[in-house]
Amino acid sequence: MAKVIGIIAIKGGVGKTTISASLASTLHNEYKKKVLLVDANYSAPNLGLHMDIVSPNKTIHDVLTGKARIWSAIHTKFGVDVIPGSYTFQGNLNVLKLKDRIKKLNSSYDFIIIDSSPTLNEEILSTMLASDNLFVVSTPDYPTLSCSLRAAKLAKQRGKPISGILLNKIRNPKYEINLKEIEEATGIPVVAKIPDDKNNVAALFMRIPTTIYSKNSRFSKEISKFAAALVGVKERRSLLGMLLGANFKKEQVNRQLLKEGFYNSQILNNDES
Ligand SMILES: Nc1ncnc2c1ncn2[C@@H]1O[C@H](COP(=O)(O)OP(=O)(O)OP(=O)(O)O)[C@@H](O)[C@H]1O
Ligand SMILES: [Mg+2]
Repeated sequence: MAKVIGIIAIKGGVGKTTISASLASTLHNEYKKKVLLVDANYSAPNLGLHMDIVSPNKTIHDVLTGKARIWSAIHTKFGVDVIPGSYTFQGNLNVLKLKDRIKKLNSSYDFIIIDSSPTLNEEILSTMLASDNLFVVSTPDYPTLSCSLRAAKLAKQRGKPISGILLNKIRNPKYEINLKEIEEATGIPVVAKIPDDKNNVAALFMRIPTTIYSKNSRFSKEISKFAAALVGVKERRSLLGMLLGANFKKEQVNRQLLKEGFYNSQILNNDES
């Protein structure tokens, strides 16, 4: 049975699609998993542009309106099965059917990754309800952190607590909120600290997931470590880290707990509720 992972945020542009595309590619290409990647950003889909699917024949919109069977909307790219969105769809869509539609594919995959919409309505609920585990993407600034708190609250209300924060676009830690402050404010463990990496600009321009465009970039290495925790294998440590016998960082400890299933069974307390 597939593990369904929702990548969410109530803020646009934080990196949900970038991370979803790279995570899916890494799970397949590095960890040999069978992965389905779904665009659930129904109003502004663009996962196809990260996965080199420029004019999809059938889309998640066709599936949800009943115009296409789900199998016919699958496009295989970089070893990953992708259900892209329609760039031109107009009309009504029952997005809450997503859970039911992907259920049919559960036995065919190890992972189903859902790239969420940032819109705080049924669009984000569609991902929340369809997922087994939710990860919220946040950047290390106060406006985004306040959105992450709202996402955590909504997820908890829906009985789907967030399993971890993916802290993205870390640039200048001197002027950014640190891991400890973020964990204290949200009550959610940070499971990846992803640097701002200019390889993303080139990868997006070429419509290639960043982890394939630049496998050894700092961005890709952090995605690989997060993917290892989801798969349940030991993450690769840098040679320097091993030689120096460096202490484990907090996010590494969090990933270890994630790997052991700790966060799946815990309802994390968020005092906001
Ligand atoms: N770690 C990173 N380093 C540098 N650039 C990044 C990083 N992560 C994402 N980006 C860039 O940020 C921009 C927005 O990323 P992305 O489209 O993935 O965000 P999103 O959260 O999916 O946005 P939306 O809510 O609009 O769907 C893109 O140009 C992407 O290349
Ligand atoms: Mg997106």
